[in-house]
Amino acid sequence: MQILFKNNNFINIMNPEKKAKLLREEINKANKLYYVDNSPSMSDQEWDKKFQELIAIEKEFPETKTTDSPTQRVGASPAKGFNEHKHLLPMLSLGNAFNEIQIRDWYERVLKLLEIENLDMVCELKIDGLAVSIFYENGVLTKAATRGNGVIGEEVTENVKTIRSIPLTLNGNYPEKFEIRGEVFLPLSKFKKLNAKREKKGLESYVNPRNSASGSLRQLDSNVTSKRPLDMFFYSLGYTNENSNFSSHWESLNMMKNWGCKINDLSKKVNSLEEIFGIIKNIEKIRSDLDYAIDGLVIKVDSLHYQNILGHVGREPRWAIAYKFPAEKQETILRKININVGRTGAITPWADLEPVVIDGVTISKATLHNREEIIRKDLREGDRVIVQRAGDVIPQVVKISKNNIRNNSSKSFIFPRKCPSCDSNLINDEQNAITRCIDHSCPDQIIRTIEHFASKVAMNIEGFGKKIIEEFYKSKIIHNITDIYDIKNKKDQILDLSNMGEKKFTNLVNSINNSYHQPLEKLIFGLGILGVGSEASEWLARKFKSIENLINATEDELLKIDGIGEIVAQSIIKYFLIDENKILLEQLISIGINPVYVEQEIEINNVFYDKNFVITGKFESFSRLELENKIKYLGGKITSSVSKNTNFLIAGESPGSKLKNAQKLSINIVDENEILSMLEIEEK
Ligand code: IVH
Repeated sequence: MQILFKNNNFINIMNPEKKAKLLREEINKANKLYYVDNSPSMSDQEWDKKFQELIAIEKEFPETKTTDSPTQRVGASPAKGFNEHKHLLPMLSLGNAFNEIQIRDWYERVLKLLEIENLDMVCELKIDGLAVSIFYENGVLTKAATRGNGVIGEEVTENVKTIRSIPLTLNGNYPEKFEIRGEVFLPLSKFKKLNAKREKKGLESYVNPRNSASGSLRQLDSNVTSKRPLDMFFYSLGYTNENSNFSSHWESLNMMKNWGCKINDLSKKVNSLEEIFGIIKNIEKIRSDLDYAIDGLVIKVDSLHYQNILGHVGREPRWAIAYKFPAEKQETILRKININVGRTGAITPWADLEPVVIDGVTISKATLHNREEIIRKDLREGDRVIVQRAGDVIPQVVKISKNNIRNNSSKSFIFPRKCPSCDSNLINDEQNAITRCIDHSCPDQIIRTIEHFASKVAMNIEGFGKKIIEEFYKSKIIHNITDIYDIKNKKDQILDLSNMGEKKFTNLVNSINNSYHQPLEKLIFGLGILGVGSEASEWLARKFKSIENLINATEDELLKIDGIGEIVAQSIIKYFLIDENKILLEQLISIGINPVYVEQEIEINNVFYDKNFVITGKFESFSRLELENKIKYLGGKITSSVSKNTNFLIAGESPGSKLKNAQKLSINIVDENEILSMLEIEEK
């Protein structure tokens, strides 16, 4: 039997099934050596030849194809959305320790609870990616899901299958049906390359490796995921349908390794606090050499029996703790103090820094907040400064370094009196420490306004980011928001003047056309009215139902909406009094952008419906946005400050002054566990 191979050679296949099986085994073995064990066994050409051969056989004889074939790693057809996956065992989070004392406290508590004097532990790196759970049935990968809120995640099987270091089939002996958990991440070197590519294409870059991993894995089109070089470290067993044979976590890690799963080789079994402190010091030293981001160490009780006895409090196991590294600080040079003009005319200074690597991310910009901040820290161009980056926070200039030496040319920074974009006089809003440009024809304000209108959270015009908008504005292709809808008639001009090719142009026109169908609240939000965020936009849409009604709203009507106070009401009235804004809306309506509010189907009978929620602090199991969306979906309203109208304050870690205000007003205070169970009840 002969089949035509990709390079036009015929190959003889006597027994396609047998041959496909052999190729699969060879490729899987080579993949494991390459992606998991870091010791390649085959040249790229040899691998490619075998892979193409397997594709050709599976194409010619579809019956030879198996779900665990390495050819299945290229992704499936795009999904419409992710299915929910309810975890068979909740995916817990971890309590934190920020210093040796807190680790010691945890250790002593564990010893006391177990009534023992000595404890075996495993010390692992805390990988800064996203947690996933993977199911294997009879050794074949059958399902994978993200952690989600710890109880319910998103099913991402096709996407996970594209990650080369995750085995599609396991080696050796394994339970019949079980789950392994671990962290998916994007290696730092690949993260940098991906961002460089995205910037070149005019796409927004990912803020950090964790976001890039999450963005890459949660793609509806798994073909896109297959092109992102994601990787994974497995770190624990989850559900299993039969009693496991292991008695310790360390043993289970070794078993996972034998099955072909990638385990971080810096994990160590330890028996004393001193060993742990030594490991922390060592990892802090080598952290910058690793090709993946870590944000601390995880210390786990080794004995599974002890883990069972210790159990968990809420979502945090007593048998493990995360030691978090302090926010990394680095010294660098403040090359220049620049000024940014925001959409609302707010003038924000920012630091152009000599690039410096912090937590594996190259930082070359940091915020300087406002004029007072520069004066208070006495920052000058040319100074050596200390820069800090903590988690997702925008990098900050902490202070001037002790090593700073100023020469005679060093001058205090003179904050501009005129707008760097339009040269009009700047106004100081002393109360809010904001300096503003109040000229509505200011080019930077217009560009930022268009950018906001087109953004994902507003009209969601894909492929129309900052760079392209600036280019179009500067080449006079667009002057304002309405011009976006005339782009389709300017093909020749755009292809001549900009870097845009035919294909990108067509995609852009398609996404502009899609934006006609955005809901009313997104349109209101997209207008960028001062003080009107996404929540207020929803309340306005719900109350006024159309743009025309909103334009004619009176201050009294606006003030009747819970959550809208005098300042925002006046800002809305003021917005519609400005001629340019009125003209903009008339034009949008005349070209057919005139959505009517569509009531979301919500269950009226739930504890969230029509209640006012304020959220404060940080959460382990979900992002704030996730929580807000869930509450809104169930009919609740999110407001930013506590008042007598607040029904619930959801307080996470480090809650701040909102908690005190809520206590004073005797408002219901709900913690992370309670809100999780409230949501669980409603989502059932
Ligand atoms: S163990 C109860 N081990 O950290 C066990 N988690 O803050 C929880 N993480 O959601 C997981 N590296 O995404 C564990 N070696 C490691 C980890 C790790 C990173 C993440 C994981 C989890 C989060 C908890």
